[in-house]
Amino acid sequence: MMGRRNYEALVDREDQQLQKQLLRKSWWIMAVVAMAGGVAIFCSSSHSPNSHQHQHTIPTLLSVVHHETGDYLVALNNPVYERLKKAKFHDTLLVANNAKEIPSLHVNRYQIGVRDPLTLHWTLGQNIQGEPFLDEDKDLITLHCGDKTMDLRAMDPSTDFLDAATIAQARSTSCRHSGEAHPQKWHIPSFPILRHEICQFALYKALPDTTDGQPQYALLDRTDPIEIESSRTLPTGIHLALGSTPNEMVVQFTSGDVHPHFPRNQEGTPVARYSKQGSKDDAQKATGTSHTYSAKDMCEAPANITEAGKFQSPGMIHVIRLVDLEPNTAYEYKVGLSHGQGITWSDSYSFLSPPLVTGDAAPHSYLVYGDQGCPATGWGDGGKWVAAMTAREVLNPKDKNQPIRSVHHFGDLSYAVGAAHIWDAWLNMISPFTTKVPLMVAVGNHEYDHLSGGGNGKDPSGVKNEDGYRPTWGNFVNDSGGECGVPTSNYFTMPNSTKSNGVFWYSYDFANVHTTVISSEHDLAPGSVQYQWLEADLRSVNRTLTPWLIVESHRPLYESQINWENNDVGIVLRLELDDLLVDYKVDVVLTGHYHAYLRTCDGLHNAKCHNGGPIHLTIGSAGAAFLDTDLYSNSWTDKFIKNEFGYGRITVANATALHFEFVKAGDSDDKTAGEVHDEVWIVRER
Ligand SMILES: *[C@@H]1O[C@H](CO)[C@@H](O)[C@H](O)[C@H]1NC(C)=O
Ligand SMILES: *[C@@H]1O[C@H](CO)[C@@H](O)[C@H](O)[C@H]1NC(C)=O
Ligand SMILES: *[C@@H]1O[C@H](CO)[C@@H](O)[C@H](O)[C@H]1NC(C)=O
Ligand SMILES: *[C@@H]1O[C@H](CO)[C@@H](O)[C@H](O)[C@H]1NC(C)=O
Ligand SMILES: *[C@@H]1O[C@H](CO)[C@@H](O)[C@H](O)[C@H]1NC(C)=O
Ligand SMILES: [Fe+2]
Repeated sequence: MMGRRNYEALVDREDQQLQKQLLRKSWWIMAVVAMAGGVAIFCSSSHSPNSHQHQHTIPTLLSVVHHETGDYLVALNNPVYERLKKAKFHDTLLVANNAKEIPSLHVNRYQIGVRDPLTLHWTLGQNIQGEPFLDEDKDLITLHCGDKTMDLRAMDPSTDFLDAATIAQARSTSCRHSGEAHPQKWHIPSFPILRHEICQFALYKALPDTTDGQPQYALLDRTDPIEIESSRTLPTGIHLALGSTPNEMVVQFTSGDVHPHFPRNQEGTPVARYSKQGSKDDAQKATGTSHTYSAKDMCEAPANITEAGKFQSPGMIHVIRLVDLEPNTAYEYKVGLSHGQGITWSDSYSFLSPPLVTGDAAPHSYLVYGDQGCPATGWGDGGKWVAAMTAREVLNPKDKNQPIRSVHHFGDLSYAVGAAHIWDAWLNMISPFTTKVPLMVAVGNHEYDHLSGGGNGKDPSGVKNEDGYRPTWGNFVNDSGGECGVPTSNYFTMPNSTKSNGVFWYSYDFANVHTTVISSEHDLAPGSVQYQWLEADLRSVNRTLTPWLIVESHRPLYESQINWENNDVGIVLRLELDDLLVDYKVDVVLTGHYHAYLRTCDGLHNAKCHNGGPIHLTIGSAGAAFLDTDLYSNSWTDKFIKNEFGYGRITVANATALHFEFVKAGDSDDKTAGEVHDEVWIVRER
C-alpha cells in the first residue's frame, strides 16, 4: 500500500521532469496569451460571445450583459448589486422638481406562463433643460418577486431584488438577445424559472452619493405586478435516471413549494402515470417523495448566502420510481403535482426501458461527456449546441433500430458554483433529452470542492472533514462555490444497488456493460473508503453478463496538459488506480475536466502503450470554456483536439467490439456540426 508521503515525492519528481519541458515551451504559451486580447464588437452582425477564454462566468438571473463588452455580468460580484445593498432609498418626490417629464416603465404582458418571453420598455423622460432625464449608466431597473398575497411595494429595495441592471446594461442585454440595435427596451426571451407567483420591475434614479459615500436612489416608476401562471405547481427540470434494478426508471422534477397556499398535508404530492406505448387504458400510477435544500445546508459562501446572484430557493425536488417495467419496451409517462386544487400535469413523454442484462445483448448506443455548464448564459454557446445536438440524437436517431439509450455526464455539470438559479436554467436546457433518456452523472470539482463548512453532517458524501478531501499535492479548492455537493445530491438519484454512495460513487449494469462511476474529488488512495468500494465493485462484476467494464471519473489519469496543478492530480490518480484497472481488466476509462478531447493509446498501463491496461478517453468539451494549453510530449497521446466543442458517442456492437466516436458540436447552421472528428474501435479478446 502506498502512503500519501510517497505521492508527494513522486509528484515532485514528475513535476521537475515536466518543468524542464515546460520551460522549453514557455515562449509558445506567451505568444498564445498575447493573441487572446481581442475586443468584442457588440450588437453588430460580427458579434459572437468570446468562447475561447477560460473563465467561469456565471451570468445573472436575467443574463444581463456588460454594455461595452457584451459579455455576461458575473452574478456573484455584480457591482450594481453591491451598490444597491449599501444604498439609501428615497421616494420619487425628491427628484421631481428637476424633471419636466418623469420616465416610466412598462411591460408588454401582465400575465405569463413559466419560461414565457417578456419585454420591458421605458421612456427616458426630460429634465428642465429638455435633456433625457434618465442617466443610462447610473439609473437602474430592478426585479422583485413574491406571492400573490404580498404587496411587492413594501419590500426592502436594498435586499429583496432578484436582479438589477443599469439602463445601458438592460438595453445591451436586449440587443444581444433580440439583435435589435438601441431599443428602449429589455427583451427577455424566456422568463427565468422562479417559484414566485408575481413579479414586478422598478425604475430607480441614481442620486449623488451622500457625503460619507453611501449610494442613493429615488424611485421613478414600477410596473404593475406580472402574474406567472402555475409558477408553483408546474413540473420543471424533468430528468430520468436508471434505477437500481433494470426494471425500473427514476424520474425527478422540481416545482414550487406550494405550502403557503395549501394546508401542510396538501403541500403537493408528486405523482406519475405511465403505460406501455399505445395502451393508455391500463396506466400504472406511482407516487414519490419530495425534498429540498436551503442556503444553510451548504458548506460555505457564496452558496450559503441568500441574495441576488447567490442562493435562491430551488422549490421542491421530487423523486418517483416507475417500477415493474418490461425490458426494452417503450413507455409513455407524465408527472404532476397533486395539490389542494387538483393535479398540475407535465406534458407526456416517452422512454425505452432498459434491456435485459446479458452478455449477448443487441448493439446499443449512448452519449458521453463532461464539463458543460449553462450557456443561456456563460461562455459562448457550446453547452447549448451540445445539448441541442444531444436532443436531436435522442429524439431523432440516425438508426431508428439503435436509439441512444442514455447520456453520461461525468462532472462539472451546471457550473452553478453557488448561483442557484443556474441549476434551473441548466436543467431546463437539457430537459429536451432528459425527459426521454436517463442522464447519469458524476461529481466534478465544480460540484463538490470546498474549503470549509463540511462538518456537522453537512457534506452529503459522508466525509467528516470540514474541507472534504484536500491533499497537499492537489488543486482541490473552493470550485463548488460552497455547494459541496448539496444541490447535486438533491437533484440526482443514482442507482444504489451496490453499497454505493449517492451521486459520488455507484455502479450499474446496462445490457452488456458494467459502468462504475467514481469521484475524483474524494480520496482514492489504496485503503480509502472509496478505493475499497471500487475494488469490491470491480471484483463483483460478472464478465459473462457484462463483458464490458467501463470506469467514469471526472478528472483524468492520463492527460498531459501544460497546466501544473491539474497534472499533479492525474499523476496521483495513476499511482492509485493504474494497477487496479489492469487487475480487473477494465476496458475503458472515460473522463472530463480538461476542456478538450484526448484519446490515449490502448492498453495503457504505467504510461506504456499496449501494456495490459484500458484506453483512456477525455471528453471535457461539452460547453465549458476551452482550455487551450498545449500538451507536454509523451508517447501515449494518440489524438488530441482542442478548441472544439463536442461529445462522445459509444456504440457497443457486441461482447468484444465497441465503437467510440468524437462528434463535433456546433450551431444548427454549422455544416461541420455532427462530423466525426475522431473514432476508434476497441476490440477485446474475451
Ligand atoms: C456561510 O459560509 C461562510 C464561510 O464561507 C461562513 O463564515 C458564514 O457564517 C456562512 N453563513 C451562513 C448564513 O451560514
Ligand atoms: C474562492 O475563494 C476565493 C478567496 O476567498 C474567492 O476570491 C473566490 O471567489 C472563491 N471562488 C468561488 C468559486 O467561490
Ligand atoms: C436505495 O434507495 C431506495 C430509495 O431511496 C431505498 O429504498 C433502498 O433502501 C436503497 N437501497 C440501498 C441498498 O441502499
Ligand atoms: C455469471 O453469470 C452467468 C450467466 O448468468 C452465470 O451462469 C454465472 O454463474 C455467473 N457467475 C458468477 C460467478 O456468479
Ligand atoms: C462484433 O462486432 C464487430 C463489429 O461489428 C464484428 O466485426 C465482429 O465480428 C463481431 N463479433 C462477434 C463475435 O459477433
Ligand atoms: Fe473540472
